[in-house]
Amino acid sequence: MFTPERAKTVIEKEFEVFSREFTNSFDNDTELLKSVNSYILQRKGKQIRPILTMLSAKAIKGVELSTIKAGIAVEMLHTASLIHDDVVDEADSRRGQSTVNAVWKNRISILVGDYLLSKALITATETENFDIVKAISNVGKELSEGELHEIGIAYKADLQEDTYFEVIRKKTGVLFSTACRVGALSIKADVDKLKAIVEFGDIFGLCFQIKDDIFDYVSTSEKIGKPVGCDIKEGKMTLPLLYALNKTDESTRNELISLIKDEGMSENDVKKLINFAVENGGIEYSKQKLYELKNKAIKVLDVLEESDAKKALLGLLEFTIEREK
Ligand code: FPP
Ligand code: MG
Repeated sequence: MFTPERAKTVIEKEFEVFSREFTNSFDNDTELLKSVNSYILQRKGKQIRPILTMLSAKAIKGVELSTIKAGIAVEMLHTASLIHDDVVDEADSRRGQSTVNAVWKNRISILVGDYLLSKALITATETENFDIVKAISNVGKELSEGELHEIGIAYKADLQEDTYFEVIRKKTGVLFSTACRVGALSIKADVDKLKAIVEFGDIFGLCFQIKDDIFDYVSTSEKIGKPVGCDIKEGKMTLPLLYALNKTDESTRNELISLIKDEGMSENDVKKLINFAVENGGIEYSKQKLYELKNKAIKVLDVLEESDAKKALLGLLEFTIEREK
């Protein structure tokens, strides 16, 4: 399997610089920020997004200092959004570690998220590339819009696939496509290569979210650190359930939709909806979508010459689709 660890070997030296600079950008003299920042740095995650930034640049030309800066901006913004997201979701833990809001409460979390978002923008300006600044600024807007859109349609049982794709593109896809975009922008890629790498990032983001949504139906809590059925309980319609509901008969559909529209859903209702989606091909259909998207991504990258970096980009996509957690 092409794990992020393996992908990193293609950009080993570059990733070392990224890692050092990323950690340094959390340096601060304010005591409280120091504590929270060092806590955040203990839970860095796989850092797939900056890896994509560097691989995108390398697959086209090579990694430059502005590529590293752009990667830091992307990861900072991602970190800020997760800190805010945990406040919005009132989450106590993420990846097995207590959230910032669980340890320091909402007030501090919001401010630290604001701080990191601002740092992300400052780091973007350090590339002295206006297109990169524009791209990074746009992500914050799209993410917030995506989240608000998702909250706005919760418990409404909108059965259109287009709505689902619109939401996941904004809440997840844009950050991935931007990670790839700024990589290509940092080395002044030609328009056709820039276009291809952005489309690849968009597909990557969609696959990442579809896979995440599948976990809400079939994962065990130990593997990904959260129980199944969270989305359903929050009234979120994701692909497995959407598909199953759309192909069932009207009376079953209406009966199940009334469960989704109930904000005080019981555990039994959640189980019923999960089983319905699983037993009616929702998982197979979602996996089918993942394979279609993967094949599209392979075609999209045809404009890039063969290289280890290109192999790593496609390998990471495969990993994202096949991962168990
Ligand atoms: C995870 O979603 C979170 C996001 C996709 C983005 C959240 C974005 C915001 C809260 C807007 C704030 C933006 C900035 C720039 C600070 P999830 O809750 O579906 O998944 P999870 O299981 O990882 O929490
Ligand atoms: Mg969340």
